[in-house]
Amino acid sequence: MNSTPVPLGGPRFQTEPARLYREMRREHGPVVPVLLDGDVPAWLVVGYRELHQVTGDPVLFSRDSELWNQWDSIPGDWPLLPMIGRKQPSILYTVGERHRQRAGMISDALEAVDPFELRTHCERFADELIDGLCGKGEADLVGEYAMLLPVRVLARLYGFSEEDGPALVAALNDMIDGRERAIEGQQYLAASMAALLAERQAAPARDVVSRMLADTSGFTPEEIAQDLMVMMAAGHQPTADWIGNSLRLMLTDTRFAASLFGGRNSVAEAMSEVLWEDTPTQNVAGRWASRDTRLGGRPIRAGDMLLLGLQGANDDPQVRTDGATLTGGNQAHFSFGHGEHRCPFPAQEVAEVIARTAIEVVLDRLPDIDLAVPADSLTRRPSPWLRGLTSLPVRFTPTPALGGTPT
Ligand code: HEM
Repeated sequence: MNSTPVPLGGPRFQTEPARLYREMRREHGPVVPVLLDGDVPAWLVVGYRELHQVTGDPVLFSRDSELWNQWDSIPGDWPLLPMIGRKQPSILYTVGERHRQRAGMISDALEAVDPFELRTHCERFADELIDGLCGKGEADLVGEYAMLLPVRVLARLYGFSEEDGPALVAALNDMIDGRERAIEGQQYLAASMAALLAERQAAPARDVVSRMLADTSGFTPEEIAQDLMVMMAAGHQPTADWIGNSLRLMLTDTRFAASLFGGRNSVAEAMSEVLWEDTPTQNVAGRWASRDTRLGGRPIRAGDMLLLGLQGANDDPQVRTDGATLTGGNQAHFSFGHGEHRCPFPAQEVAEVIARTAIEVVLDRLPDIDLAVPADSLTRRPSPWLRGLTSLPVRFTPTPALGGTPT
C-alpha cells in the first residue's frame, strides 16, 4: 500500500476524475493520504465500505471541525477556510442531540413544502428563462439556465418575494464564483436573510423561514440565518450541476439521443446515472477522528481530517462487481452522503423536482436541441469538490417566447 500522499488538485480532477479515483484505490487502498492546498494532510476515503463506516459513526468520525489537529499550522488566508470552517455556528458543524434537533427543524420545514406549489414555481421560472433565450437559436444552458434556476426556486420557497429573486441569484452566483465580488455577494445574502427573518418574526407566513422560526427547539434567529445560508448555497450549486451534468449526458450519449424526442423516462435515467457516474458533490470535507483508530488498514490519529470521497466510493469495485453503468432505481450511491449528516431527505426531494422539471422544460420547449460544440471540447470547473460544466453551448430552431414573439 503506497503511503506517498496525493495532491488533491490538478487537471485530472477536471478531466478524468473517475480514472484518478480508480488509480488511487489501486495504489493506496480505500483510504488515501492526500495533501490539500499548502500541503495540509488529510485522508480521502474512496472505499464504499470504509465510507459507510465513517458516515455511520458520527461519534468516532465527528463533524466537529474544532477537533482538527492541524489548526495551528493553518494560515488565516488559507483558501479552503470558507469551506472547512472553524467555530461556524451552522448545522454543518453541530453534533449530537443538538444536531438531530437542528436537522429535524430543517427537514420538517422542507417537508411541508407543497409539491404542487414547488412544481409550479419550477415550471414558471424555467419557462421565464427559456423565454429569454428561445428566440436566439443558441444558448449556454449552464450560464443562462442551470446556474440561474435552483436559487430562484429556493428563494421563493424559503419566503423571499418574487421581486427579491433576481438580486439573490446574482449575489449567490457572485459568492460561489469566489472572485472580486464574492464578499459583496455573501454580505448581500446575509443581509437579505436577516431582513426576511425579521419580517417573518413579526408576521409569519406559509414558508420555510416561518416554519423554522416556529420550531420549538430554541434555535436563535442568528442560528436560523446561518442554516438558511447553508440551505441556499448547499442547495443551489449541486442542483445546478445535476441539471447541467444530466443535460450533457443526454446530449452526448447515443443511448439517450433517441429518447430526447420521446418519453420522459430517460430524464430520470440520466439523472440517476449522473448520481452514480458524474456526481455533483464529488468530495466533501469532512469528518474529524475523535480518537486514534484504524480505517481501511491505515492508522488514523485523533484529530485527523477525513474527506468523504463520494464519487470514488460510488465507483468501488466492491459494489460495482460487473463494472457496468448503473442507472434505474438503484439509489445505493453516496451522492447525498449517508448517516446523520447526510443531505436531509426532503432536501433531496426538492432538488430532484427542481432538476427534473428544469430538464423537462428544456426538452419540451426546445425539442430539436443539439450540442453546438464537439462533445470532447466541453470543460468542467477545475475543482476536486463540486463537479460541473463551465458551459453547455447548444443550438436549436428559434421559437417564440410563450407570451409572444421571439425575444
Ligand atoms: C434543494 C436542494 C438542497 C438543499 C436545501 C440541501 C441542503 C443540505 C443541508 C442542509 C445539508 C447539511 C445536513 C447536515 O449537516 O445535517 C446537506 C448535506 C449534503 N448535501 Fe444537500 N441539499 C440540497 C441538494 C443537494 C444535492 C443536489 C446534492 C448532490 C447531488 C447534495 C449533496 C449533499 C451531501 C453529499 C451532503 C452531506 C455532507 C456530509 O455528509 O457532510 N445536496 N444538504
